[in-house]
Amino acid sequence: MNVTDAIKTRISIRAFTPDPLPEALLRDILDVARFAPSGGNLQPWKVIAVAGAERDAVVALARANLPGQEDDRPVYPANLWEPYRSRRFKVGEDMYALLDIGRDNKPARLMHLAQNFQFFGAPVGLFFVIDKAMGHGQWAHLGMFMQSVALAALERGVSSCMQEAWARMRAPLAAYFELPENEMIYCGMALGYADMSKPVNTLRSDRAGVDEFANFRGF
Ligand SMILES: Cc1cc2nc3c(=O)[nH]c(=O)nc-3n(C[C@H](O)[C@H](O)[C@H](O)COP(=O)(O)O)c2cc1C
Repeated sequence: MNVTDAIKTRISIRAFTPDPLPEALLRDILDVARFAPSGGNLQPWKVIAVAGAERDAVVALARANLPGQEDDRPVYPANLWEPYRSRRFKVGEDMYALLDIGRDNKPARLMHLAQNFQFFGAPVGLFFVIDKAMGHGQWAHLGMFMQSVALAALERGVSSCMQEAWARMRAPLAAYFELPENEMIYCGMALGYADMSKPVNTLRSDRAGVDEFANFRGF
C-alpha cells in the first residue's frame, strides 16, 4: 500500500468484528507511528491501550457516566459557522441515512452516539494523553501522531475510528487510569477489523476541492 492509497482509503469505521487484535500487532503499529513529526521533536504524546477485561471496564465506566460532560476544552467551538457547520451537518445526515435513522428519531441517534463508548465493538481502544500544559501546537502534533497510527494500522489491515466523543469522559477516565494531575486524555480511537457487512461502514465523507482551501501564489 502506498502513501496516497493509505491516505485516500482510510475511513472512519463504526462497526467492528469482535476478532481480537494481538498486542504484537498493536506494538508494531505504534512502533511505526512514533516516527510522526512534532515541533522541537517533543513527541508530546502518550497512549493508553485497552483490550479484554480492561476494555470492558472502560466501557462499563462510560456507561455508568453517560452522557458524560464537556470540559473547558470542547470538541467544537460554540455556534459553528459556515462552511464548517454545513460540513458537520452533512456527514451526520449521511451517516444516519445509512443507519436508517430519521432526523426526528432522537433516541436512535443518541443510541448510535453511545456506541462510541463501546468503541463501536472494536476489540481495542486507544486513549491519547497529553500534558495539560501543552499548547495548541502540541495538540496539532498529537494529531499527526494519531493519523500515523491510523495509516500504519490500515497498512496492516486494521481499521480505526478516531473518537473525540471520549472527551466527554475525561474526568472518569483520568480517575480510572490514575493519570497524574498534569495529564489529560485528548481523544480516543477504536481499532480492530471492519465489519463490512454493516452499511455504516460504506460512508464516504465529502472533501472540499483543492481550490476551496489552497491559495497558490507565485507559481
Ligand atoms: C480527532 C478526531 C476525532 C473524531 N471523533 C469522532 C467520534 O468521536 N466519533 C465518530 O464517530 N467519529 C469521529 N471522528 C471521525 C470524523 O467524523 C471523520 O474523520 C470525518 O467525518 C471524515 O470521515 P472519514 O474519517 O471517514 O474520512 C473523529 C475524527 C477525528 C479526526
